[in-house]
Amino acid sequence: MNEKIIVDVSHVDKYYGDNHVVSDMNLKVREGEFLTLLGSSGCGKTTTLRMIAGFEDPTSGEICIEGNPVAGKAPFERNVNTVFQSYALFPHMTIFDNVAYGLRIAKVPKADIATRVSDILELVQLEGFERRYPAQLSGGQKQRVAIARALVMHPTVLLLDEPLGALDLKLRKQMQLELKRLQRKLGITFVYVTHDQEEAMTMSDRIAVMHDGVLDQLGTPEEIYERPQTKFVATFIGETNIFEGCVNEVDTTKRISVGLENGNVTVAPQEGFRFGEFVTISVRPEKLRVSLEPREGFSLYGVVRDYIYVGSVIKCNVVLPNSNEVRFERLAGDELPKPGEVVFPYWEPDDCVLIHNRDNELYTALESIRLV
Ligand SMILES: Nc1ncnc2c1ncn2[C@@H]1O[C@H](COP(=O)(O)OP(=O)(O)OP(=O)(O)O)[C@@H](O)[C@H]1O
Ligand SMILES: [Mg+2]
Repeated sequence: MNEKIIVDVSHVDKYYGDNHVVSDMNLKVREGEFLTLLGSSGCGKTTTLRMIAGFEDPTSGEICIEGNPVAGKAPFERNVNTVFQSYALFPHMTIFDNVAYGLRIAKVPKADIATRVSDILELVQLEGFERRYPAQLSGGQKQRVAIARALVMHPTVLLLDEPLGALDLKLRKQMQLELKRLQRKLGITFVYVTHDQEEAMTMSDRIAVMHDGVLDQLGTPEEIYERPQTKFVATFIGETNIFEGCVNEVDTTKRISVGLENGNVTVAPQEGFRFGEFVTISVRPEKLRVSLEPREGFSLYGVVRDYIYVGSVIKCNVVLPNSNEVRFERLAGDELPKPGEVVFPYWEPDDCVLIHNRDNELYTALESIRLV
């Protein structure tokens, strides 16, 4: 992997009035990578992208592109291009003129313009559409024109804000693969925004998960899924079972025991967790097991409620004494306990993720006045 940093967002904060929409953001985008900003609506993805593009200024902090600070530089002075969700094509211009527009502004010689436009239209599979107008294209075709228009400028970085949001599911899936292929082929750095976790997992080399203006975690799709560092990341990406409790035994060579409202559980030993600390445990449904007998290190129990058949997988819900539910998954054909039966949920200690709980500020405060 190329380690050259192409966009460096360093300690960036953004306020709109009193509204703190991006908070101490640090993000290094590597040359040639496909990096996605992922998070729910209003978490600050577009704002972050617009600051990189130059449409908004950070309230504080610094953004560098190719090693140079870009503060005070207008969007067209940065070697980046943006593709918006709304396409923003010029309706009165042909497809050729739409794509050629930026090259003409940049005073590229006429003959070069013709070659570059036709090359890029071929790349996005729109050769033959030069003389049409945007109103004569489908949504997916318009989207490809918008992408061609940005790519024809040979940007160092292409910024894309939910570019597939307006397309139906089938076309969106197809365009996801096409875009990813195009990005690989051209080797251009993509910073991509979406709130769709599946889209992010499919396309990205790395994902930056944002929550309330804070970058919660930056990692490969696998790292984000297998080793979420916050409760938000664990619940936002895929399905999971969340347990909240308190560390009641730490044996760094053997195990960590956590007391939950419904009993004790065991997780693999790891550094950095203290006796008495509040923690969150995330266990994916495919990793959660149930036994008809209590297992060593676990004292959870519950009643099997029902099964949901989803093709090759069966999802099963178990109700715990405090009426919380946990879910596990099995392959069709596996032997299963019956609804109404009492079962003992457990997991292999390595099959769960232990997460520091934000409530630990309270623990630290109590500790400092020696109440724990
Ligand atoms: N120009 C603006 N003036 C004031 N507040 C704004 C402005 N633009 C965005 N905000 C606020 O900043 C916050 C972050 O908005 P942003 O558009 O970055 O979210 P987003 O993550 O892109 O969400 P979505 O997925 O809905 O597009 C929101 O609370 C929004 O209301
Ligand atoms: Mg947005």
